[in-house]
Amino acid sequence: MPIQRVLCATALASWPNDNAVLDSRQLLDSPYRPVVVLDSGVGGLTLVRQLEQLAPEVSILYVADNAWFPYGSKPVAAVACRVQQLLDQVCTRVDPLAVVIACNTTSIALIDHGRVPFTKGHFLVTPPLKEAVQASANGKIALLATPGTIKSKHISTALAKAITRAQVWPIAAQRLVELSEYKLAAQATSPACLSELIDSHLPTAQRLEIDTVILGCTHFPHLLGDLQTLFPSAATWIDPAKEVALQIASSIKINLSTLGPPARTVIFTSLPGTRNPQHAFLNYGFHAAYSLLA
Ligand code: DGL
Repeated sequence: MPIQRVLCATALASWPNDNAVLDSRQLLDSPYRPVVVLDSGVGGLTLVRQLEQLAPEVSILYVADNAWFPYGSKPVAAVACRVQQLLDQVCTRVDPLAVVIACNTTSIALIDHGRVPFTKGHFLVTPPLKEAVQASANGKIALLATPGTIKSKHISTALAKAITRAQVWPIAAQRLVELSEYKLAAQATSPACLSELIDSHLPTAQRLEIDTVILGCTHFPHLLGDLQTLFPSAATWIDPAKEVALQIASSIKINLSTLGPPARTVIFTSLPGTRNPQHAFLNYGFHAAYSLLA
């Protein structure tokens, strides 16, 4: 399947029709050795932001699987299989420094289905329930995640362990994923719909007691300001992408003299719809985009 170059720095606002098939050597060109980041949409940009602070010299090749967005409401086995195929395609064209599943839903799907690539240089973002229990002073914790993550075997087991030491409210908030996409596309979202959404999962009295919130979906840090007003007692906000970015930065051996200038490239798997993801990617410094129309 060819990867096509569809956008360039000056044309990120539109999606031109005159796609030129990309010579895969362009992606393989030495010294381009990117960190490959995968998510269904703009969620992985929250990890990119963490990583750029720790390793600004690193190039990033972002796979935004917008053809399959959203992952969180799809059967997890299908998501695991899909992501494995995508990564196989991309990794035959590049020699990555690291591969990051910047999506809790996918990471958990891969774990549940025994598909974790146990090779060096692969990183998964997952909701850290144990750390949240340790961090919480009053033992009242909210886990915000997608339905796929909340229903998974991995999280059910972790929840069963956590509830012996804390009260954890799992909130399967798929709609927050869409709101986050709209926010990054600079489309208006109403804070009222956020509070209705949370209230439909958690009675107000309990919401107001929560002292620790796990951002168990990489899309959710984009909504942090809005979420903070809904959980006014929450002193600890756990974003697992921070720890993963630290692990990546300390594991990759970067030799600046062989790497060349950092580049940011995004591969979309479908033409954009109403959410216009290019806008967000441009704001995060992505100046080249390709399509892998799967
Ligand atoms: N960003 C993904 C995660 O961390 C979920 C997005 C989706 O539902 O597509 O779970």
